[in-house]
Amino acid sequence: MSEPFRDPALPTADRVADLVSRMSIAEKVGQMLQLDARDDLAEAVQVRHAGSILHTSPERIVEANRLTAQTRLRIPLLVAEDCIHGHSFWPGATIFPTQLGMAASWDPGLLERVARATAVEVAATGIHWTFSPVLCIARDLRWGRVDETFGEDPHLIGELASAMVRGYQGEGMADRTAILATAKHFAGYSETQGGRDASEADLSRRKLRSWFLPPFERVAREGCRTFMLGYQTTDGVPIVVNDWLLTEVLKDEWGYTGMLVTDWDNVGRMVWEQRVQPDYARAAVAATRAGNDMIMTTPRFFEGALEAVETGLLTDDAFDDAVARILTIKFDLGLFEDPRLPDGGRESVVGQSAHTDLNLETARRSIVLLENDGTLPLGVAPGAAGAASRPLRISVAGPLADDAQYQLGDWAGGSGQAGWIDGQPRELIVTVLDGLREHAPAGSTITYSRGADILDLEPSSRGATFPDGQPRPPVVRACDPDDALIAEAVAEAEQADAVVAVVGDHIELVGEGRSTATLELIGGQIALLDALIATGTPVIVVLLASKPLVLPSSVVGAAAVLWAANPGMQGGRAIAEIVLGQVEPSGRLPISFARHVGQQPTYYNQIRGQHGDRYADLTQSPAWVFGQGRAYSAVEYSDLTLSSTSVRPDQVVVAEVTVANTGHRPVRETVQLYVRDDVTSASWADKELKGYQQVLLEPGASARVRLPLPVADCTIVDAEGRRVVEPGDVDVLVGPSSRDEALLTARFTIR
Ligand code: NOJ
Repeated sequence: MSEPFRDPALPTADRVADLVSRMSIAEKVGQMLQLDARDDLAEAVQVRHAGSILHTSPERIVEANRLTAQTRLRIPLLVAEDCIHGHSFWPGATIFPTQLGMAASWDPGLLERVARATAVEVAATGIHWTFSPVLCIARDLRWGRVDETFGEDPHLIGELASAMVRGYQGEGMADRTAILATAKHFAGYSETQGGRDASEADLSRRKLRSWFLPPFERVAREGCRTFMLGYQTTDGVPIVVNDWLLTEVLKDEWGYTGMLVTDWDNVGRMVWEQRVQPDYARAAVAATRAGNDMIMTTPRFFEGALEAVETGLLTDDAFDDAVARILTIKFDLGLFEDPRLPDGGRESVVGQSAHTDLNLETARRSIVLLENDGTLPLGVAPGAAGAASRPLRISVAGPLADDAQYQLGDWAGGSGQAGWIDGQPRELIVTVLDGLREHAPAGSTITYSRGADILDLEPSSRGATFPDGQPRPPVVRACDPDDALIAEAVAEAEQADAVVAVVGDHIELVGEGRSTATLELIGGQIALLDALIATGTPVIVVLLASKPLVLPSSVVGAAAVLWAANPGMQGGRAIAEIVLGQVEPSGRLPISFARHVGQQPTYYNQIRGQHGDRYADLTQSPAWVFGQGRAYSAVEYSDLTLSSTSVRPDQVVVAEVTVANTGHRPVRETVQLYVRDDVTSASWADKELKGYQQVLLEPGASARVRLPLPVADCTIVDAEGRRVVEPGDVDVLVGPSSRDEALLTARFTIR
């Protein structure tokens, strides 16, 4: 206990100052490094003095901590992982639906519980920090990372992100079950060119302030402890050196005092990819001056930064602020007293049954019923309550009906980022086929035919790796329709009461560097659906797809369409329960579905003003729009009233609407409130979500739902980039989705 920094009784600031004063320049530069734990750990910890590691297998965590204990100052490591819908790469952990799937619940309370459960599992395994949630706005559906987002709406993103940050960070830093959350990717990464990953984000400051920054501002002000940057450049400036965003906006304007971590090799990319820095020394200078704290996986930052000091490009104390921010987090977490190593005893919390129950609840809430001609729930007479009870013959078809690992989606055991795990235990995953076998009424016959293949892979002719050594994704070749597979599925369908056809995308079409040029179902899937629908047997299309896809025209003849995103380990059970009427569907789209890839982008909150409202050869209207989702019951909206029709900006308008369940089954209705500012000083979105409430209504019941709307939320960003409330008329639109035809309208005036 000789050195003051080891004294837990001292204030954190004193401990930080003492420790920084004892560190060599190399130790300080190393403290800023976050290195890949799959590489040489001894070199990372003992030669480069790394302050943090990521992608750590169960064994490597123990090894890394053993090596750290042998270093001069024994500064504990911060251990980080992408635990973005559960403890992704931990064998047997609870893998929830993807973030986009969870967003379809529109339920912050549920997502907070998911993040809490994830934190409990993660914290028990020696990991302190998750790179979640993603606050990017999904706009171009071709982008490969749409599944990682909460969808297209800034208000919904803010609600759900804030909830997940609360869930991860628990009771605060002293809470042994808390982990650090990360708001990523700051900011604008998702604004791609043609959906291509990490391309230049063509964004003005006004556009950033209008839609991309508000969710980040919210979690920054609410105490999210870390922010991760994206990969994008904007106006020629890589995000890691964007002073305006990092300093003026994030730190000065929003008062953010947490830690900034770059994305993967952002600093190196300035040298070898974007070519805006001539060498690693200049890149290190630029990244350090811009206020980055943790440099992810650019080992050569170490040599570059030391060279910059030697040559006088940086002063000896250039790293002190960054190191202080990193150490503050380590002291606040209490890691010097207790490095929170993997704890054999506590690891039994991983995959615990309470988390499985929560996972099932989340999967149920993530599924969106898009179409239903009355066939669903299966085996239940139209208008009747309850679940199927007579034996059914169900023909399950499609390449994804029993694909356990892909059902989990990206950033899960089988998605390839980790190396030490190539899938989660099969017995923990319930596929759609499993779920229907388990839940169909006694005496039912469930048959299965794959019906189609999706894709094959070919090595890229450009080599197996990128210049930085990262793996280059192989080239996807769509499979041809297979007549024999289709014939088998058709023969089964002809004998069945109904077909459940499970189609979608696949992991090779999802993720970083895996954007798609098309949105159609690929391989033999379209031919399969066409043939199944042509049999005349009712076909229930289950779209198990990471992101909204374009469905073939034959689907207008399907009996029902459900979108399940990647629904996690319990997904197949939840789908079966909904199909069979044991659970009511309640998900709402957090993102719009296009009819054709050429409609991109299809988000609902588009800016007013264009010639006409359609393409010459196609409508602009999406296939299914933000907020949409059906129940098995019917819901009617009436009597929209406002508490006041003439208000000041500091007042709250309360909208009230009567919502009635006029059908025969219970519903969870998501009552949505949008505003449309009649005349704005600068062009603005035609309508924007400002609030919503979920109500549970038994058959025949109705409720008067209150939706408070602070007038201060009825803002636009003016031509000078200021967020302002402008006087004038505002329409309040209330209803079950963002579709104009579905909304009731009332008007108030801001004085
Ligand atoms: C790159 C991804 O963009 C980011 O989201 C992720 O957290 C890091 N790699 C670490 O795996």
